[in-house]
Amino acid sequence: MIVLGVDTSCDDTSCGIVDSDGKILANVVASQEIHGKFGGVVPEIASREHTRNIIPVVEKALTDANLSLDEIDGFGVTYAPGLVGALFVGLSFIKAISYATGKPFVGVNHLESHIFSILLEHRVKFPTLVLIVSGGHTELVLVRAPGSYKLLGSTLDDAAGEALDKVARVLGLKYPGGPKLEKLATDGDPQAVKLPRPEISGYNFSFSGLKTHAIQYFKHHPDIRREDFAASFQHAVMDALVTKLRKAVRELKIPRVGVVGGVAANEYLRNLIRDRLPTVELYLPSRKLCTDNGAMVAGVAQFRLNRGERSSLSLRPYSRLPKGGLE
Ligand code: KG4
Ligand code: ZN
Repeated sequence: MIVLGVDTSCDDTSCGIVDSDGKILANVVASQEIHGKFGGVVPEIASREHTRNIIPVVEKALTDANLSLDEIDGFGVTYAPGLVGALFVGLSFIKAISYATGKPFVGVNHLESHIFSILLEHRVKFPTLVLIVSGGHTELVLVRAPGSYKLLGSTLDDAAGEALDKVARVLGLKYPGGPKLEKLATDGDPQAVKLPRPEISGYNFSFSGLKTHAIQYFKHHPDIRREDFAASFQHAVMDALVTKLRKAVRELKIPRVGVVGGVAANEYLRNLIRDRLPTVELYLPSRKLCTDNGAMVAGVAQFRLNRGERSSLSLRPYSRLPKGGLE
């Protein structure tokens, strides 16, 4: 079946279409540049922009795929976790076209859709460990099979991308600062500034202490080369992520790893994983599938619709779900 998926969980309005083989026929993303002015995502503005963008984005996806709405067999839409007002736009839109066309829809968990970004591009073997790292999430998940998950750990405070964005802001880089910080760090020495590593038990993460320490350091050392500071902070964050990933690979004896979400686009992180975990089978999404996109939502929806799952018109959005909604 041909499935159309929509994501409006944060600040990107996106629509993707996949065919019955899981091939991506279209993947359109409208990023909301406007938040750069405010240093972070402003929820009300995000909702307003989604309302403005949703129809053109879906129309563009249909045009790219050379399909009409009648040729779509089912729909998927992110319903949680995310900004409720933002989720509401995509959810209402998909409910309306599902009702109008008489084709089914399913609500999709945003974290599961990030996991599916690797399933769309790789022949993933199971079980596999998946690290979800984005602006809103840092979760380590054991994926037993598509649809069967165990949340091993998550961040106790800031998400990795959020910490990168906040430190980037101190460096005068506009939101989202992660990719700009990465660029600046290319000319820096990752060992220039020694930053503390979070000491968190199990498979949980914490980035707020590290972030505060780095910001204080920058304030007290105004002469530090910005490139060196950026490289050192980036290294500290990625090192903390890879350390936990390696602990899970060793303790659970699972030699397969996927890294997904916006921060997975980071080349320094990709190389650090290759370096520290040279023998694992590594699944990395292409850059377009790292950040929020509709194709990964369509991927989950395809899987769930094929299993006979359907959502009802009374489905509502949720900002959070217990255990990320994965178990
Ligand atoms: O997955 P995503 O688009 O949205 C969320 O679900 O949060 O991730 C966005 C996050 C932002 O924090 C952004 O700074 C970060 O991913 N990001 C990066 C890179 N590209 C995006 N962080 C570091 N390096 C990058 N190349
Ligand atoms: Zn995301």
